[in-house]
Amino acid sequence: MILRVVGFSAAMLSIGLLVFPSDAAGGGFTSAQVASGASTYAARCSQCHGAQLQGGAGPALAGPSFRASINASYTDAGKLYDFTRKQMPANAPGSLTPKQYAEVVAFVLAHNGFSPGGTTLTAQNASALHLAGMAAATPANGVSLEIQRAAPPTHQVFGPMPNNANVTITDDMLAGAASDANNWLMGGHTFANDRYSPLTQVTSDNVGSLTPVAIVQTGMTASFEATPVVVNGVMYLSTPVVNSQMKILALNAATGARIWETTYNLTPFKICCGPVNRGVAVAYGKVYFLTLDDHLVALDAATGEVTWETKVADATTGYSETMTPTIYKGSVIIGSAGGEWAIRGFVAAYDAATGKQRWRWWSTDPATYSGTSWKSGGAFVWTTPAIDPQLGLLIFSSGNPNPDLSGIHRLGDNLYSDSIVALDVDTGKLKWYYQEVKHDVWDYDATSPVVLFDVTANGATIPAAGEAGKVGWFFIVDRRTGQLIRKSDPYVAFSKNVFSMPTKTGVEMLPGANGGAEWSPPAWSPKTHFAYVLAMDQLMNFTTQPEKNEPGQLRLGSAFINVKKNGLQDGRFVAIDTDTGKVAWTAMTAQPLIGGALVTGGNVAFMGEGDGDFDAFDATTGKKLWSYNLGAGVNAPPVTYQVDGQQYVAVAAGGNFQLTYPLGDAVAIFKLPSAAPK
Ligand code: HEC
Repeated sequence: MILRVVGFSAAMLSIGLLVFPSDAAGGGFTSAQVASGASTYAARCSQCHGAQLQGGAGPALAGPSFRASINASYTDAGKLYDFTRKQMPANAPGSLTPKQYAEVVAFVLAHNGFSPGGTTLTAQNASALHLAGMAAATPANGVSLEIQRAAPPTHQVFGPMPNNANVTITDDMLAGAASDANNWLMGGHTFANDRYSPLTQVTSDNVGSLTPVAIVQTGMTASFEATPVVVNGVMYLSTPVVNSQMKILALNAATGARIWETTYNLTPFKICCGPVNRGVAVAYGKVYFLTLDDHLVALDAATGEVTWETKVADATTGYSETMTPTIYKGSVIIGSAGGEWAIRGFVAAYDAATGKQRWRWWSTDPATYSGTSWKSGGAFVWTTPAIDPQLGLLIFSSGNPNPDLSGIHRLGDNLYSDSIVALDVDTGKLKWYYQEVKHDVWDYDATSPVVLFDVTANGATIPAAGEAGKVGWFFIVDRRTGQLIRKSDPYVAFSKNVFSMPTKTGVEMLPGANGGAEWSPPAWSPKTHFAYVLAMDQLMNFTTQPEKNEPGQLRLGSAFINVKKNGLQDGRFVAIDTDTGKVAWTAMTAQPLIGGALVTGGNVAFMGEGDGDFDAFDATTGKKLWSYNLGAGVNAPPVTYQVDGQQYVAVAAGGNFQLTYPLGDAVAIFKLPSAAPK
């Protein structure tokens, strides 16, 4: 994962208060039944409904959505008992005894705030216990998944879609995104995540005259990391979270005019690295986004109204969602952030029409963690996967094991942390993996998104997957097998004590814990066969610092801090020849780079800097061709698209929390002066 490195305090974590329901509502079940129900639940229900009743393959059995079910369907305990006895467990309905069903129902009720009393719940008396509309009590164990929203989402429509644009993106459009010059249909532009647009109007000859046409202010000033999505002249964008709110915007992509805006209100959440969101996914007439409080939400793409919403994880334990979802064949595929907490990562697919989970893959393998440390072993997947439709593979990079900087309680390779991983995209089953760093104790996770391209090796053309590691090499594997084809030359200053063990007094190391390459997505051009990587040098001091392992508490196991005095601090925009692994060119910057790259058919590579400069380079030579200062850090990936025959380039400028770059709230849209199109 990633952490702000210049000092770190709990005050930066946005941890609000859980709201517990009050008012006892005495009832017809006993605490002995709740206790027996707990073990039945663990053995027969938790695999689908989650250990915390938070939901998984089955719906949540606690919290607002289950409360809504109670009010609508299970108005008394008899109805809940009957449903459960007839239909559950879904894989073996009716297989428990009546006594066990009563106990497990008692357990579910206790977790929804109903209090045990003196009456034993039975099939006969259950209907006398009314549930609907009752104010529930604080559960006996003091833990509740009942999380209340400050307010439901609100939305506001400002104007019509330009020229009645059709904003419905189909599977065919997504599959053909590589040759769709007009649009930028998904975060990585194509399933390959290559961030290459075939547009040629802006070239290395004329890019110097790019001019802003709009600077849209979202009103949400905070670390801004989102990639816009553009379809038929409409731009969709998510903002970071400010005061427990985030916005999803639909803008006219040629003028910046607002079309609609939806404000989502968050419940309490925990984060390590800024209140960020990396963007929306758009398909089937909907806009999908993830939230820091672990919701996956679908909006109507034309109006911004909420279509459905589902909870994907438990925010109280440290899960938070920052990535752009991936849409493929009716599934919304997501991963989670949270690698600094004692929990484990996952990748999951949800039905795009209903929000029901289709599959979930847990990213820690018990065989590679000592004891039960896999349960809290991290390995979070928090940047957007690539997809190879031919091979049917979902391919992504994975984060650090937890605790980040101490491995003593998690002996073993700690798979599948710090890896490039391929799953069967339809089932979520593991196909292959390549681990970049075994048993990581430096936070050297694989965070930059995987990019797919073909390479030549031994005279043959091989389908490959590449990942710009924090360790400073670009790893290229065969995407049919996961076998390493080549590691690039190091693309950062290399190395000082790399892979040394942190000590009590500290070891100075290069690369530092931010890399190498951070989450910044690279771009890859079929014209040059270069991967364009944003990287940095940050000399860091790694020290060991024992800390407690408590659920819901940040757990690093150690500390790292920038070496300020005479410590190396710079950035590098690097072009790597993927056919040879050689660094083709490097453009140095004064500050470490974080954000993302874009490369175009006009042979221009774009990226932004923390000081507000948005830059363009000749993609072949690395010569800097243009720069425009946007006032706040340009720390987000740029995009390009075409409306009415005119090419536009857009990028968010809102700074960065983690590297303390000046914050803002703008999205800038550029084009060539009207006379220039040719
Ligand atoms: C193999 C997976 C699986 C297991 C095991 C399982 N469930 Fe379910 N459960 C589901 C699914 C899927 C649904 C949604 C079914 C539907 O829509 O009717 C569901 C629905 C429910 C509901 C209704 C929820 C609502 O909001 O309407 C309850 C209550 C429930 N299960 C209780 C249990 C209990 C208690 C157990 C253990 C005895 C259990 N389930 C075991 C998969 C499972």
